[in-house]
Amino acid sequence: MVPWGTFLSPYKQAVDELKIKLKGMRSQFGITGTTSPIEFVTGRVKPLASIYDKTLEKGIAFEPSQQLATELQDIAGLRIMCQFVDDISTVVNLIRQRDDLKVIEEKDYITHSKPSGYRSYHMIVEYPVETITGKVEVLAEIQIRTLAMNFWASIEHSLNYKYKGIFPEEIKYRLQNAAEAAFKLDEEMSSIRSEIQEAQVYFSEIKEAINPKIRSTNEGKECE
Ligand code: GTP
Ligand code: MG
Repeated sequence: MVPWGTFLSPYKQAVDELKIKLKGMRSQFGITGTTSPIEFVTGRVKPLASIYDKTLEKGIAFEPSQQLATELQDIAGLRIMCQFVDDISTVVNLIRQRDDLKVIEEKDYITHSKPSGYRSYHMIVEYPVETITGKVEVLAEIQIRTLAMNFWASIEHSLNYKYKGIFPEEIKYRLQNAAEAAFKLDEEMSSIRSEIQEAQVYFSEIKEAINPKIRSTNEGKECE
């Protein structure tokens, strides 16, 4: 059996590479002067404690193995945040047409939100990592969502952690209300999308005129 560090290293490599590539898509939109469907990108390798929890949930052995690599599809996880709901399908299509990864599965929790109220578009991709001992294909999960969906999901995730998935009725009710409010927020923003984007283009042109360097420093805006 390989040590955990060895098992996880191609996943770390995949997350690092995919983060750069997905952020690169954002910069390319910036350079061509078109508004980017990507607001920011984050990525992480699933912490060992979470891998452990998941193996208990799935009833599989907690050891670095092919079974683990196949059953845990989100050891490498990327998240792409968009301003508008319509941007999500644009990003999905951009990912589908890439030659450097293979889309294995797609889950549309936007058209069909989860009972919890969770909304997001998930893509499971197979990504080849070149290592010093040859090529390793790893699975990665790319979650694509709006800023509002992300806000809801991160709050719900923290509460889930606190209540271990068993929410008091009041909290469950509030979360469902909040999910509806997030949905409404996305709808409202979509309805004034062209207004917003005009203002954003205008603002970035002013910044560019005042200090041409700002645009390049702003490219670091995406979170780590
Ligand atoms: P696992 O949940 O990973 O066992 O696999 P699955 O096939 O059920 O995947 P699913 O697409 O349901 O969820 C994968 C990921 O989506 C999770 O690890 C979370 O990051 C996110 N997710 C799914 N459902 C919820 C939810 O109700 N709330 C939050 N906050 N995140 C969710
Ligand atoms: Mg699940």
